[in-house]
Amino acid sequence: MKVAVVYESRTGNTARAAELVAAAAQELGHEVGVWPTGKTNLEFLTTADMVFLGTWTDGIIVAGHRPGGAGQLLEMPGIWGKPTAGFVTYAIHAGKVVDKVADVVTLIGGDWVGGRALRRDRLPEGIAGFVVAALDEAEMRISAGN
Ligand SMILES: Cc1cc2nc3c(=O)[nH]c(=O)nc-3n(C[C@H](O)[C@H](O)[C@H](O)COP(=O)(O)O)c2cc1C
Repeated sequence: MKVAVVYESRTGNTARAAELVAAAAQELGHEVGVWPTGKTNLEFLTTADMVFLGTWTDGIIVAGHRPGGAGQLLEMPGIWGKPTAGFVTYAIHAGKVVDKVADVVTLIGGDWVGGRALRRDRLPEGIAGFVVAALDEAEMRISAGN
């Protein structure tokens, strides 16, 4: 599959997570491109089979968790109709931020295949399993749709 990894990052944690997601997908034999929002290669994105969308957790640690840079995510073109997985880095408490990323993906027309919160000081913990499960689910959706 052709896989686009797009992320929003302020201090580099989500950028690192995105590179790890991309490396895992590449290791499994997929063609992968990875970019921050705003610098995405639109030709690659619009022809990709699936998308990983990453961001960070914004909130007041104990409450109000929401995807960081949600404005940029909501303006992302090219996701319409594509299986899309989400990942979110956080420091201490992510709350229900993954569900909110699912809402953002749904609003921009993506087909949500699942997501994962990643603790910033424990990367790459959980990434390999997340990537395998997301790619499997995306492949199933694509073959069911054909
Ligand atoms: C304004 C702001 C609010 C944050 N709120 C939370 C929070 O509620 N819970 C949490 O676990 N981390 C919170 N964080 C930490 C970031 O989510 C975490 O450091 C993340 O990995 C940053 O990603 P980045 O390096 O890609 O920008 C917050 C960070 C900022 C800047």
